Amino acid sequence: MIDSLVRRESDVKETGDTMVIVEKVEKKVQVGKHSIFALNKCSLSVKAGETLAILGSSGTGKSTLIHLIAGLERPTSGEIRVKKFLVSEMSDGDRAEFRKGNVGVIYQFHHLLPEFNVLENVMMPLKIKRVPHTTAKKKAWQILEKVGLEHKIKDQPATLSGGERQRVAIARAMISMPSLILADEPTGNLDRNNAYNVFRLILSLVKDHASSLIVATHDLELAALCDNRKVLN
Ligand SMILES: Nc1ncnc2c1ncn2[C@@H]1O[C@H](COP(=O)(O)OP(=O)(O)OP(=O)(O)O)[C@@H](O)[C@H]1O
Ligand SMILES: [Mg+2]
Repeated sequence: MIDSLVRRESDVKETGDTMVIVEKVEKKVQVGKHSIFALNKCSLSVKAGETLAILGSSGTGKSTLIHLIAGLERPTSGEIRVKKFLVSEMSDGDRAEFRKGNVGVIYQFHHLLPEFNVLENVMMPLKIKRVPHTTAKKKAWQILEKVGLEHKIKDQPATLSGGERQRVAIARAMISMPSLILADEPTGNLDRNNAYNVFRLILSLVKDHASSLIVATHDLELAALCDNRKVLN
């Protein structure tokens, strides 16, 4: 099914090592009797291994854009391509499959499952992909070491600090080593020091895996650490 949406080979070659292309994308939403643009016409591109910060004041559509690229929603018009996938044209089912294999998402609020411990939360994406338990456990352990939380694997999310929870969420997003990481205000809930450390951690993991990163943030100083910046208005 997904194969039918892959671009012709000539088109793929044209784009070279481009990871994401967003072309004239708009999202209209219904608010009561009226419809408004949650995202005004937006175009951008991100190469493999590149990091891009999405800036813009509240309500300009940063979260909407992240959701659209992740395939959580479909645009009203325009085209979104991630690697060879025409995400904007896919069915809900195909977009869910696409997400599992290609994208890691990090949110402002960690969205960890409270009834599972740290190790189990981080293993979850691999369990969903039916990776054998021992392999999933080993990989979760390795990534938790990278984020400096190997001593907390048995702890429940509720007993961790905000920064620690966000590091668990990062480990969970990165465990499948997706080639694209999407992050929506991943440090918006942390104090200055923690925000800086968590942001640096995301950047270093992204660079280690040669992944691409698109990160929505209000923070100009953090945005300056990325390769490129795109301002929405
Ligand atoms: N499903 C929806 N229904 C109604 N309005 C929506 C919906 N999704 C987004 N919006 C509206 O679209 C606009 C853009 O929302 P979005 O959350 O993408 O902005 P943002 O740039 O992420 O803002 P913030 O910096 O506050 O997180 C807002 O005015 C929001 O209220
Ligand atoms: Mg937002």
